[in-house]
Amino acid sequence: MRKISVIGVGYVGLVTAACFSDLGNTVIALDVDEKRIAGLKRGEMPIYEPGLKELVQRNVNAGRLVFTTSYQDALKDSEFVFICVGTPSAVDGDADLKYVEAAAKSIAENMQAPLIVINKSTVPVGTGDWVAEIITEAQSKPIDFWVVSCPEFLREGSAIADFMSPHRTVLGSLHREAADKVAQLHLPLRAPIVITDLRTAEMIKYASNAFLATKISFINEIADICESLGADVKEVAAGMGFDPRIGKHFLEAGLGYGGSCFPKDVKALAFMAEEMGHEPRVLNSVMTVNSLRRGMMVNRLKNMAGDLNGKTIGLLGLAFKWNTDDMRDAPSVDIAEALSKEGARVRAFDPVAMDAAKEILPKVEMAKDAYELAEGADALIVVTEWNEFKNLDLERLRDSMRQPLILDGRNIYLPEQMRRLGFTYQGIGRGYNGIKTEIEVRPNAA
Ligand code: NAD
Ligand code: UGA
Repeated sequence: MRKISVIGVGYVGLVTAACFSDLGNTVIALDVDEKRIAGLKRGEMPIYEPGLKELVQRNVNAGRLVFTTSYQDALKDSEFVFICVGTPSAVDGDADLKYVEAAAKSIAENMQAPLIVINKSTVPVGTGDWVAEIITEAQSKPIDFWVVSCPEFLREGSAIADFMSPHRTVLGSLHREAADKVAQLHLPLRAPIVITDLRTAEMIKYASNAFLATKISFINEIADICESLGADVKEVAAGMGFDPRIGKHFLEAGLGYGGSCFPKDVKALAFMAEEMGHEPRVLNSVMTVNSLRRGMMVNRLKNMAGDLNGKTIGLLGLAFKWNTDDMRDAPSVDIAEALSKEGARVRAFDPVAMDAAKEILPKVEMAKDAYELAEGADALIVVTEWNEFKNLDLERLRDSMRQPLILDGRNIYLPEQMRRLGFTYQGIGRGYNGIKTEIEVRPNAA
């Protein structure tokens, strides 16, 4: 049993705190947001993440997990401190490190004994060295500390499973002994542990996110070509994915990548490259392709429905992806704003993100469910691929709409079935040449 402090109780910090306490450690989780900590003490989660509330509750009840706003309390007797604060984009595209800087200073001012400072936030290459400088300068008396980078690879919506069963743990440090101690903490996760230097670990995180974003922009470009040539991108991706060199994941064409990570991380990596005098040609193309996806959806609707002025458009889904309430860089925001600009009345339904969305999209009217959303709508746009949208009563939906028009930004419906049901329907990259059959994959036992 070890004592761990976690700084920042957002999507990464709260999951890290809950999971490490569930692994039998004593964890004290800190945030500067007093409301968040007060809520957590009452058992209220600041974010929607499946399974998190139960996990937090179980470990709080067992006495292994506590919350605080006091750095002094958080660091007392701790052997490890994880920094999990936000690193949003600054205006120039660089990562804004003000929260990391503040956390490092507070650690320096409040540590009373030797400490391993582990950075889990996604930070530009070189930040670990900078954090070490900040701590050294801000300490009132010299106390030993060691900085280790431990980037996080979890996804929102499946954060607990991703944390508990990672594909790998990456650790970077100039001090192998400190890295070894952090490696010990991660042994119960049973994943390969890659130990390298600080800067390489920081780069592994950016390169991983940028590669996944590249896959998404690549398949979106293929989707556009498919549409023009009468091929179906879903089946193209399925056919490509059997090759293990390509892999079947992250080949869903759609509205492009959003959320709090890929957009900011690709931008920050491009910024780092430019600062060093490299033109990031691939990354720039990835961002260009991505930036066109949302506007394309609105143009498509105009082509299909005509002038949008006075029309009622329903958005199925608001969160940047399913299984989360996160609205950061969600395609729904740009789409709703563009539709409003065209004079459309915009309505929406999302199973969990409506509270978060109301503040960002005050003009959007929220419906109580997908069926109410469809009533009198001139078109529906599938923005988020929630499971519950996949099995809607489509005939009921069709009959209550003013025009049975669906633009499916996530390819959750079958084009053939939608046409049969009498919808004017368009997915993404699902070219149609009039002779469409369903893809068939036969096992070959010969
Ligand atoms: P978040 O915005 O959800 O949470 C950050 C928390 O830090 C907030 O609660 C905030 O109040 C707190 N905070 C800010 N300054 C603080 C300070 N000085 N001391 C204590 N607390 C402070 O952020 P997030 O989504 O959890 O992301 C955190 C980091 O992890 C980012 O660098 C992000 O890129 C990275 N990351 C995020 C994910 C994800 O899925 N969200 C996955 C992997 C990595
Ligand atoms: C992503 C990474 O998957 C995590 O490994 C990483 O830890 C995290 O960023 C981070 O660094 O913060 P997340 O943003 O939660 O996780 O969500 P993803 O499931 O990766 O989706 C990101 C975006 O890409 C979403 O907008 C999603 O709709 C889109 N996407 C994803 C596609 O358009 N197509 C796909 O095939 C996959």
